[in-house]
Amino acid sequence: MRVNINNVNFEISAVSKKQYPISVIPEIALVGRSNVGKSSYINMMLNRKNIARTSQTPGKTREINFYNIDKKLYFVDLPGYGYAKVSKEKQQQWGKFLEEYLNERDQLKLIIHLVDIRHTPTKDDVIMSDWIKQRDVNYIVLASKLDKISKSQVMARISDIRKTLNIPKEVEVFPYSANDKSIRDIIWAKIEANIF
Ligand code: GTP
Ligand code: MG
Repeated sequence: MRVNINNVNFEISAVSKKQYPISVIPEIALVGRSNVGKSSYINMMLNRKNIARTSQTPGKTREINFYNIDKKLYFVDLPGYGYAKVSKEKQQQWGKFLEEYLNERDQLKLIIHLVDIRHTPTKDDVIMSDWIKQRDVNYIVLASKLDKISKSQVMARISDIRKTLNIPKEVEVFPYSANDKSIRDIIWAKIEANIF
């Protein structure tokens, strides 16, 4: 691995683009529904319990959080979408942050779209996926919470996700569980192949 995951710095929780780090190193954005496991994924990848704050209550991450990894790349933890219990106003505000970041950030080199392996992707997931496809950035799809289904269901779930999101053949979809570190090196290799 080319990055040292022991050298991680939670740099800033931004609520406006003025607060984004001033830098040129590549950024990897985590997008997905509220509660799908974006923050847990960051913890898994960095081998930390709590560097990204997680919660059983959807809507935990409300800012754009930048994690500087070994001064070589950033993980960017974005607010989750599609959480009905949050007021319309708040959802619009978070949506605006999301859009602003995703549309305008030149350093954005890879999008990781997280979906829940247990369920058919929602309307919001489809909207996000379509949006990602029209933006000229590499992306991969990770299907979280693999530990919640049986092995025999995995293939059918992945093909449903591929079909519902209409994922192009060349885009990879990986099932994973935040509790199982065995996939970490595989995903790190993918990330490095995409950004270096
Ligand atoms: P927001 O910040 O609200 O957008 O949510 P998030 O996408 O960051 O989700 P978070 O990482 O906070 O995880 C939500 C809940 O799902 C927590 O209770 C996690 O422990 C749990 N979770 C995340 N990933 C997995 C997984 O792979 N397997 C299981 N069983 N639980 C997971
Ligand atoms: Mg979060």
